Amino acid sequence: MSTGTRYTGLIEHYRDRLPVSADTRVISLGEGNTPLVRLENIARETGKEVELYIKYEGLNPTGSFKDRGMTMAVTRAVEEGSRAIICASTGNTSAAAAAYAARAGITAFVLIPEGKIALGKLAQAMIHGAVVIQIRGNFDAGMRLVKEVAEHAPVTIVNSINPYRLQGQKTAAFEIVDELGCAPDYHCLPVGNAGNITAHWIGYSEYAHHESACVTGACAFCGGNCQFAGKAVTDKRPVMVGYQAAGAAPFLRGAMVDNPDTVATAIRIGHPQSWEQAWTVNKESGGWFDECTDAEILAAQKLLTSREGIFCEPASATSVAGALRDIKSGKIPEGSTVVCTLTGHGLKDPDTAIRQCDDEPMLTVDAELEAVKAAILGTMD
Ligand code: F0G
Repeated sequence: MSTGTRYTGLIEHYRDRLPVSADTRVISLGEGNTPLVRLENIARETGKEVELYIKYEGLNPTGSFKDRGMTMAVTRAVEEGSRAIICASTGNTSAAAAAYAARAGITAFVLIPEGKIALGKLAQAMIHGAVVIQIRGNFDAGMRLVKEVAEHAPVTIVNSINPYRLQGQKTAAFEIVDELGCAPDYHCLPVGNAGNITAHWIGYSEYAHHESACVTGACAFCGGNCQFAGKAVTDKRPVMVGYQAAGAAPFLRGAMVDNPDTVATAIRIGHPQSWEQAWTVNKESGGWFDECTDAEILAAQKLLTSREGIFCEPASATSVAGALRDIKSGKIPEGSTVVCTLTGHGLKDPDTAIRQCDDEPMLTVDAELEAVKAAILGTMD
């Protein structure tokens, strides 16, 4: 006989800190509650004394952190009577929108850049029954179109400009504090639209002690009168560090980038939607932005898979690529507790993973004992 309480998703778990009422019909797939894994081999190899964790967001129901925001956004869209949702996406948002729309019994329209989203994400959007509209343009063009079309059609935008998205996503910070007993010293994230770094800061800020009702200037949800604060769990907030792909790094350039490009297609974004908010996070937390080359990103992805058994998609590995560099240089000092968010699962992008293994080709042999034995012994030489 089970004596446990079934986990039914982050809205139920953090109900008193989210914008839902007792009557709200919650649209959930059991998202959240993802593992916080302490890295052992990689951390040791830096030669520095740091406690390094990854928050494995790829283990959400559709394989990315987007599920946290999508459960909240779709729950509210349905509550408000919406019959259709729409988003522009580099892939993960479209997968999450498609799945939660299916669950809710409403329609999802997703605009994706033709040829520039990873195979797994496309498969998800299609199999969940979303109306997939490929555009001959990038994410930024798609986002512009979504905003325009939503003025002319009865559809709810579920990109992170929908404030309920960030409300759902802030729960990742709650989970980390609940598990560690306090906030980490540094929190490192890959940055595209900068919604997630903003959401994390909102979460950490709501959990920390404040004298005023405005817990952070980065939250546009309640106009400075936070109804979810006031129950401090910790007196500390982390330094927030955002890493971008070098070919798509508007926060490093200090201006929008018109033709972003990177192997990390999830963060191939030149016009971040949460630009102002992310700069506020940067200032309030005393953090910084930095950039990683595609080669550094792929090397970090490989390191995580081969040394820690953790498979994330390229964009996610950007957080670890940047953090390792800053730990080695001492910018993140010894003695720190560091959390890196791994935003999406590696299975999302099998093509890039297989391409990463070009120098270790598969062995193909006859289906005979001698041949298999020779292959094994040859490898062990
Ligand atoms: N990592 C992954 C795997 C993502 O899919 C995204 C964003 C990010 C990081 C960046 O997060 O935009 O909040 O700074 N993906 C969006 C999408 C754009 O359409 O799936 P952000």
